[in-house]
Amino acid sequence: MEKVILIGAGLSGLSAAIVLAEQGISSCLISAQPSERAQSVLAEGGINGALDTMGEQDTTEEHFADTMRGGVYMADPNAVDRLTKGAPKVIRWLESLGVPFNRINGDIQLRNFGGQKKKRTAFARSSTGKILMSALIAEVRKHEAAGLVTRYTHHEMIRLLMDENAEKMTCRGVRVRDRYTGRLTDFYGPVILACGGMNGIFPGMTTGTTRNTGDAAAMAFCQGVKLANLEMIQYHPTTIGISGKRCLVTEAARGEGGRLFIERKGQPWYFMEELYPELGNLMPRDVVSREIFFVLRREDCTGPVCLDMTGLSPEVWKNKLSDLREEIIHYMAKDPVTTPIPVEPGIHYFMGGIDVDLRHRTNVDRLYAAGECACQYHGANRLGGNSMLGAVFGGRTAAGDLAERLASSGLRLGEGPWEETLPADFKDPAADPASPVLIGQISRILLKGLGIVRNETELNRTLDELLALEASGTYNIRERGRLKLAEAMIRSAVLRKESRGAHYREDYPEKSEDFRKTAVASLSGDDICIDYRDLPERKGQA
Ligand code: FUM
Repeated sequence: MEKVILIGAGLSGLSAAIVLAEQGISSCLISAQPSERAQSVLAEGGINGALDTMGEQDTTEEHFADTMRGGVYMADPNAVDRLTKGAPKVIRWLESLGVPFNRINGDIQLRNFGGQKKKRTAFARSSTGKILMSALIAEVRKHEAAGLVTRYTHHEMIRLLMDENAEKMTCRGVRVRDRYTGRLTDFYGPVILACGGMNGIFPGMTTGTTRNTGDAAAMAFCQGVKLANLEMIQYHPTTIGISGKRCLVTEAARGEGGRLFIERKGQPWYFMEELYPELGNLMPRDVVSREIFFVLRREDCTGPVCLDMTGLSPEVWKNKLSDLREEIIHYMAKDPVTTPIPVEPGIHYFMGGIDVDLRHRTNVDRLYAAGECACQYHGANRLGGNSMLGAVFGGRTAAGDLAERLASSGLRLGEGPWEETLPADFKDPAADPASPVLIGQISRILLKGLGIVRNETELNRTLDELLALEASGTYNIRERGRLKLAEAMIRSAVLRKESRGAHYREDYPEKSEDFRKTAVASLSGDDICIDYRDLPERKGQA
């Protein structure tokens, strides 16, 4: 009996493990770090679902419309349809696992979040990710005790094991390295990659953990897995710099009434409120980050941009944002209750990633991807609160599809050992790490082209620099993977001659229907190809 192999033990991986275990299917949960340190733990603000507990007559259709609009109509409408219809069930499922969401009148309380006109974001103060993860970890432990989940923490995937004889590209399993002993093990079985975003490409510049290196996605890319929409990188408008990373100041702060301002002619100017009277500070993140970029360039304004939370009530601070207050006091030695705090946009989320279909299948048979490492649901810009939703829903969807295929035996490759620890002296060059010097070089180059505002000259210069770096040395397998991933990102941005969501081109400031397509990147030999795929029509109308 094969086991399903889950790479990553955050929200997506854990959700998948639970769905599989509930159907009696065993899984190996492989992760470079324990679940308690997964990126998901850092998620703050909440998880979206049209539960309509706030008397606003919210519907899943409105959640659909907001998600499509927020992603500037570049997400697959059928995937978004499933996501938004499934969202209330996801939240009720989490509640059934004991997640202590904030409550009101005996039901789950919802808050305002960016890009949405109704209160739709369920939350647990401002540590929603941590609290969700605690519940999922406890649930997985139960299945672990029953022998249905085996955890391999501090183990990293170093390559996919591909079936060389199959007609179609087929994944047989993964090769994994124990980070403590260096020992390599091959695991055989269908694989769900749930390894998070590509933060490691931008060390120190993201709100996410750089332990999500992007190496798994890069390796998969080099082994024939297609990636999509790599140019779509989300800058969260409100982050603060702390040692070694950007720290998130949750959008919930603005959802609860926080206001952005900059000094103009000696007075605070609440620019978002003036420029966007309807949603103001809660415009989608791409818009807010861009406006911050623009006001900082104005001659009549004096930076920094500040977030003013001094008008929030003691009740809001105590019941909804207590963790945020502690975080700001800890890192900035300022109390946001009395003092506005300076904020800057920072890289927060990768809308692009491994190209998947509605069932989270990749272009390689028996290989799935879910969570931030996958490109699904968010189009050109993700709405806040849709990330945890996409992670849980995606993990559950991938596992559900796998379970169905396993039940019909359509997946077996034959009998044999499902795990094989390789001899201690066995070497695989894919296990050699990328040099931190090179990682730093790649990120410095990429950042020049892939900022909040982009243009052809800078993008081409960035591409040239990157190609020169590629040509100037000999690189190990992981280094080549990172270089190729970076190249695919920058090529995708060069080719998209329009402005849409997180990809803003000052030389093409309008969106173009010709580019309302998925940009699919593939690697053949040393050549990267970017193809545009049309988006499907919506079928599952409410
Ligand atoms: O601002 C936040 O709390 C982030 C939430 C998200 O990215 O979904």
